[in-house]
Amino acid sequence: MEKIGIYFGTDTGRTRRIAKLIAQKLGDRTDAPLNINRVTLDDFLAHDVLILGAPTYGDGELPGLATGLAQESWAEFLPRLEGLDMRHQTVALFGLGEQEKYGHEFVDALILLYDAVVACGARVIGAWPTDGYAFTASQAVIDGRFVGLALDQIGQPALTEARIDAWLRQLAGELQTLEEHDVRA
Ligand SMILES: Cc1cc2nc3c(=O)[nH]c(=O)nc-3n(C[C@H](O)[C@H](O)[C@H](O)COP(=O)(O)O)c2cc1C
Repeated sequence: MEKIGIYFGTDTGRTRRIAKLIAQKLGDRTDAPLNINRVTLDDFLAHDVLILGAPTYGDGELPGLATGLAQESWAEFLPRLEGLDMRHQTVALFGLGEQEKYGHEFVDALILLYDAVVACGARVIGAWPTDGYAFTASQAVIDGRFVGLALDQIGQPALTEARIDAWLRQLAGELQTLEEHDVRA
């Protein structure tokens, strides 16, 4: 089976650590996670399954030069996807944020990743329930679920590992259903 690509953006390193933890749990099904500022479009499009992670910065925005990072990140990479064909790709998203301080725009960057890959025809899996979180608003919630796994390493770090384990089980189930469906189709 082809390897899952894990790509992340980060400023202070938390999203990198989560990406590494996810990779560790997936074992040989994935290569080492890469910072999105080191990824070519060819690499990005080469994987059938992608796991993409981003913290939210600025005013509910993607990390990047405009939100104060010293290096390029998702804000610079996503526009390069415009017009590309991702219909062969399945994408799962995870986002880091902070509910107590930014509860009015919690993990908003997730929706920007979601919109960008959906516009290219990718299939997004891994929607995650909002139970157990305390926030007032998030653009990343569609039909009562986050469009990907939401993590708060400042307010709820003790919940993270169990959330990742449950999410990875969910992804495995969703991928298997898609495979069975593709075989039948
Ligand atoms: C200036 C600034 C703005 C932020 N804005 C948001 C926000 O709008 N929504 C949110 O959920 N978290 C926000 N956060 C919290 C970060 O997303 C959180 O600290 C995250 O864990 C950082 O990840 P990183 O270590 O990978 O850079 C903000 C943090 C900072 C410092």
